[in-house]
Amino acid sequence: MASNIVVFVSLLWVLAAIGCAARSSCSSRKVDSVHDKKDLSSNGKVQIQHQPAKFGFRPWPKISDEAPSVDAFTESKAFEGSSPFVNMQYHMGPVLSPTIQVYITWYGNWKSEDKAIIKDFLLSISSPTELPSVQKWWSTITLYTDQTGRNITGSVNIAGEHLDQYSHGHSLTRLSVQKVLKAALKENNGTLSVNSHGGLYLILTAGDVIMQDFCRAVCGFHYFTFPSIVGYTLPYAWIGNSVKQCPEVCAYPFAIPDYMGATKPMKAPNGRIGVDGMISVIGHELSEISSNPLINAWYAGQDPTAPTEIADLCEGMYGSGAGGSYPGEVQTDGSGSSFNVRGINNRKFLVQWVWNPYLNACSGPNAIN
Ligand SMILES: *[C@@H]1O[C@H](CO)[C@@H](O)[C@H](O)[C@H]1NC(C)=O
Ligand SMILES: *[C@@H]1O[C@H](CO)[C@@H](O)[C@H](O)[C@H]1NC(C)=O
Repeated sequence: MASNIVVFVSLLWVLAAIGCAARSSCSSRKVDSVHDKKDLSSNGKVQIQHQPAKFGFRPWPKISDEAPSVDAFTESKAFEGSSPFVNMQYHMGPVLSPTIQVYITWYGNWKSEDKAIIKDFLLSISSPTELPSVQKWWSTITLYTDQTGRNITGSVNIAGEHLDQYSHGHSLTRLSVQKVLKAALKENNGTLSVNSHGGLYLILTAGDVIMQDFCRAVCGFHYFTFPSIVGYTLPYAWIGNSVKQCPEVCAYPFAIPDYMGATKPMKAPNGRIGVDGMISVIGHELSEISSNPLINAWYAGQDPTAPTEIADLCEGMYGSGAGGSYPGEVQTDGSGSSFNVRGINNRKFLVQWVWNPYLNACSGPNAIN
């Protein structure tokens, strides 16, 4: 059954990718804050879908004459708390229970100091550090299990890195990013191993790389590769550095859109707005890949082609009291930078909360009880 769903979803996804994959980029007038939009009707056509409730927050740009719906978001102010409307369900597919081996493709020109921030974040997941820690943040994700009772792993390594100097140009699509990953594999003269037992492939694009739907509908997305393109079914995620393209969307709250008026941006904890903003998106995608790597494990909603996953529900929530455009209570350090978790090498990060299946609410290690 699970594999049928995968085949079904893949087919729809191919159809969608050929046409236009995301609802917001194509026709939607109502911008939704869910990260990766995969709602396709059964005939493969994209349709506008209005979710019954708004979850999370990201200041997507105005794409119609309607005013940005900041007010609509602020209505959900109390949502940090539990919700009887969310029915996070397990759909019998695998989760990432073996040690996660992260394979990174750095696409485009990346500065080593920026790479170091991202690698420190990834390596902080399984390293005990001062609280509230990245490791503690991940402990909500390890609460999810598969049908054999195995938890998502708490152990995350970086298993390989590949440098790609624009092999597929400065503008990528949801399909061409799979070709980038294919070229990164050893068997295609790249440097990364094929690992379908805990392998998780990240394609991280530099600030000058354009991606289909970036800034308009997505800041990152995850899916699995098609054997017809890559040769294997591998869970992967793309996340872009938004520093030049839309920091006020994808690096919010380190940059603020004009329409939000007097709201002041937060100071980025590593002094790099684009990369500090990426950290939360990377956290979002990692937690969703781990709990739903083949889009048949943990998600809410009836429609496997438009799953609401464990991080979608909590986007934009970084601390207690979060709701609407308010990120919640977070700490500031001596220099005035905002953060909610600590990691290795004395790093600080701001990473969104994730859905806790026991609390039936978003939770994070910096919650004030
Ligand atoms: C594994 O999952 C079970 C069920 O959710 C949970 O009770 C347990 O605490 C989890 N273990 C870890 C290490 O997260
Ligand atoms: C890898 O490199 C070898 C030697 O240059 C070449 O013959 C082969 O076609 C390349 N393979 C791919 C998949 O690019």
